[in-house]
Amino acid sequence: MGKTFKRIAVLTSGGDAPGMNAAVRAVVRTAHAYGMECVGIRRGYQGLINGDFTMMTRESVAHILSRGGTILYTARSDEFMTDEGKRKAVATCKMLGIDGVVVIGGDGSFAGAQAFSKYGIPVVGVPATIDNDLGCTNYTIGFDTACNTAVECIDRLRDTMQSHERCSIVEVMGRNAGFLALYVGISVGATAVLVPEHELDFEKDVIERIRESRLAGNTHFMIVVAEGAGSAVDISKRIKEEIGIDPRVTVLGHIQRGGSPNARDRETATRMGYYAVKAFAEGRYNCIIGTQEGNIVEIPIDEALQMERHLQMDRYKIMEAMQIGGTLKQIET
Ligand code: F6P
Repeated sequence: MGKTFKRIAVLTSGGDAPGMNAAVRAVVRTAHAYGMECVGIRRGYQGLINGDFTMMTRESVAHILSRGGTILYTARSDEFMTDEGKRKAVATCKMLGIDGVVVIGGDGSFAGAQAFSKYGIPVVGVPATIDNDLGCTNYTIGFDTACNTAVECIDRLRDTMQSHERCSIVEVMGRNAGFLALYVGISVGATAVLVPEHELDFEKDVIERIRESRLAGNTHFMIVVAEGAGSAVDISKRIKEEIGIDPRVTVLGHIQRGGSPNARDRETATRMGYYAVKAFAEGRYNCIIGTQEGNIVEIPIDEALQMERHLQMDRYKIMEAMQIGGTLKQIET
């Protein structure tokens, strides 16, 4: 007989993402549907160390589907990185009779989950981060909403940039990855998009783009920069030095993480949360729930953390082809 799961826990960890609440709700309600009890751990792994918990009923997750953030709070815990911290977290699990933990978060949270699983606590991961930078899944909860938020902000910026005939440098989040920036850049028709995965040639990737756009009759320019590709302020200074125009800088920052999740994030979070608990119910654990080609997949956590996600360079080429003066001949070389 495999391990049985009578009481599971759920926590959210790392940077929050729109749709985390939808995932929490799905975990809690699926657990109850399977006849399990569900404990909500507050403040991520630190809450597990401190025994900071609340019992989750079906009713306790009513009306959170549309809410941004996470009702369980989230944190990054240095103590959990230590052996002592993990032992304290194991002790909390034993004390509360927790048979397994659903971890909702990104790569750092899953590295924590993997380490925790080695202490004998079964884990299942649900990917939620606006960065969409995990190798084991095509999609992470929160990405679509964050993209739409950034697009909405940039559309507004464009109105004022157009009126003043200015250049705007917009820095978007994404940590070390350019998924968010590229997706957003394509969606707003940016003059240039700078991502960490593409080595920057300032003259070709920025100055030439502005010049070509200007020659084509444009009087305002929109440069989207992934935070991992450099600072918007530095890029603005360089543009001013090299061609004398005086850009305005907007760092979208945490605005991108807030707000009500859109339909894609609510629906994906609900499916992933459901499958996370189903895995426990059927005796499978130490895995990450992912999506591949629209289907839910379960990947063993050790394998999942070895998988790398590469920026879709075809999208980068498409972005370039959309720019004024962007010829595919030039791009392919
Ligand atoms: O991983 C999500 C993310 O929003 C990244 O895009 C960003 O680099 C980071 O978190 C910001 O973290 P914090 O909320 O700790 O400032």
